[in-house]
Amino acid sequence: MPPTESLSPLERKQPLSIVVIGASGDLSMRKILPALFALYCQHRLPEQFHIVGFARSDISNEHFRDMIAKGLTCRYSSADECEKQKAEFLRRCTYVQGEYDDAESYRKLHQELSHMDPAGKENRIFYLSIPPFLFLDVARALAKADLVHREQPSGWSRVVVEKPFGSDRASSDELTNEMGKVFDEVQTFRIDHYLGKEVIQNLMVLRFANLIFDPVWNRRYIHSVSISWTEQIGLEGRAGYFDKYGIIRDVMQNHLLQILALVAMEQPVAYEAGYIRDEKVKALRCVPTLEMKNLVVGQYTAGPGQVGYLEEPGVPRHSITPTFSAAVLHVQNRRWDGVPFLIRAGKAMNTSMTEIVIRFQNVPGNIFAKNMGHLSTNQLRIRVQPDAGISLRIANKEPGLRMSLNDSVLDLSYASAFQEVIPDAYESLILDVVRGDGSLFIRGDELEAAWDIFTPTLHELDDTHVKPRGYAFGGTGPEAAHQLAARYGVTW
Ligand SMILES: NC(=O)c1ccc[n+]([C@@H]2O[C@H](COP(=O)([O-])OP(=O)(O)OC[C@H]3O[C@@H](n4cnc5c(N)ncnc54)[C@H](OP(=O)(O)O)[C@@H]3O)[C@@H](O)[C@H]2O)c1
Repeated sequence: MPPTESLSPLERKQPLSIVVIGASGDLSMRKILPALFALYCQHRLPEQFHIVGFARSDISNEHFRDMIAKGLTCRYSSADECEKQKAEFLRRCTYVQGEYDDAESYRKLHQELSHMDPAGKENRIFYLSIPPFLFLDVARALAKADLVHREQPSGWSRVVVEKPFGSDRASSDELTNEMGKVFDEVQTFRIDHYLGKEVIQNLMVLRFANLIFDPVWNRRYIHSVSISWTEQIGLEGRAGYFDKYGIIRDVMQNHLLQILALVAMEQPVAYEAGYIRDEKVKALRCVPTLEMKNLVVGQYTAGPGQVGYLEEPGVPRHSITPTFSAAVLHVQNRRWDGVPFLIRAGKAMNTSMTEIVIRFQNVPGNIFAKNMGHLSTNQLRIRVQPDAGISLRIANKEPGLRMSLNDSVLDLSYASAFQEVIPDAYESLILDVVRGDGSLFIRGDELEAAWDIFTPTLHELDDTHVKPRGYAFGGTGPEAAHQLAARYGVTW
């Protein structure tokens, strides 16, 4: 399989240390380390690399390797080859036990890193896979321990942070400013893993590497855009995190808004990080603050065999945290003025899926009125998950002697069209961090623009204690969300 993106021969020669802070956690074991292994199997890491896990848990190197081994899968090489690769990969993984705010712990980390390059000049990635309240303490401690390279001739240092980046514009700005004292913006990689998903990466290709979409990609031809994210599961034990943030901060402000920016943005000057992010920021800056009249918040109640949100362990009995939200945004520029962007995110729903639906305007002057009184509109459906794919609904003549029309679908299903292994989003994103390509990461000004859209609304929800509308576990969300969509002529 040809590599899509690879390291240059020079990059392959530069030693790299990857430090996973919070390595004992779920994300590290389920996503980060398996993604690193997948990259290793494809020869997309430098020849000399070393992975150091750092966390408070008392874990030996052997135990750490056992934990990692459970999450590794063989997708890129034969079973025999993969077993050898596993052994070699695990040999390069070590663990340092320490406290996140303790200088002595970072001295131990320093010592561990010196095994890679005694002069300490190898490249370094610090992946902060820890709860966000620890980000600043850890960044400052890394700097204090002199672990962060800021200038040549040392190698480079990069930091990867996971959402949530703050909980509103002010807290996000503070985090950005304080982190900026340790890591420059170009060293900072804010992950939104949705941007690493294959179909989302394809959005720019679909729009800008094809001729047929651009002429109709505007208010004249597009009636509405909807972006939905739903999952069938409820809290799954994440009350501590989720109840503090809620669905708007957890999913809408980042994943869904990033997708909206990719759908709405203008063509960048070139396929390069700076240009792409310039266009995304411009699109987001054209979106006015979300109005309360265009927002529905919900909270799941008990459903068949399932408890409601308020009965979940760890949730305060009177919590008003939304587990569902539907909103209508507008992009007020020449291309999109008047086109509603409907976005919806919900837990404990009837399906688990993420998709974008572009609905086109009605066909004017129906010459087939005798055969089909009302022509359906064209719909471009981009399925992110499950069953990644792109489909276009068209009107079509039914084969036969009569002129009878129906709706047919031109369907590009990734599973049947492509033989290649579809990489996990983390593989793609971590490779970009190693290569220093920030195209699929969120820049500071993008984050500001995204928070500006939601912050006043989030404050109003909190200040006025808006009670979310109930919806049954396993259903389609609150009735009010369907009514909101209907106001814009859309069915979710
Ligand atoms: N899991 C996901 O799918 C996912 C998805 C998107 C974003 N994220 C973000 O990614 C980061 C890591 O996620 P995660 O699910 O791996 O988190 P996690 O398991 O809750 O935490 C990771 C590690 O941090 C340490 N830790 C947890 N709570 C702590 C506390 N109160 N005080 C000090 N240390 C604590 C624990 O290690 P020790 O006790 O060993 O120190 C834990 O193993 C978080 O910022 C999360 O918001 C996760």
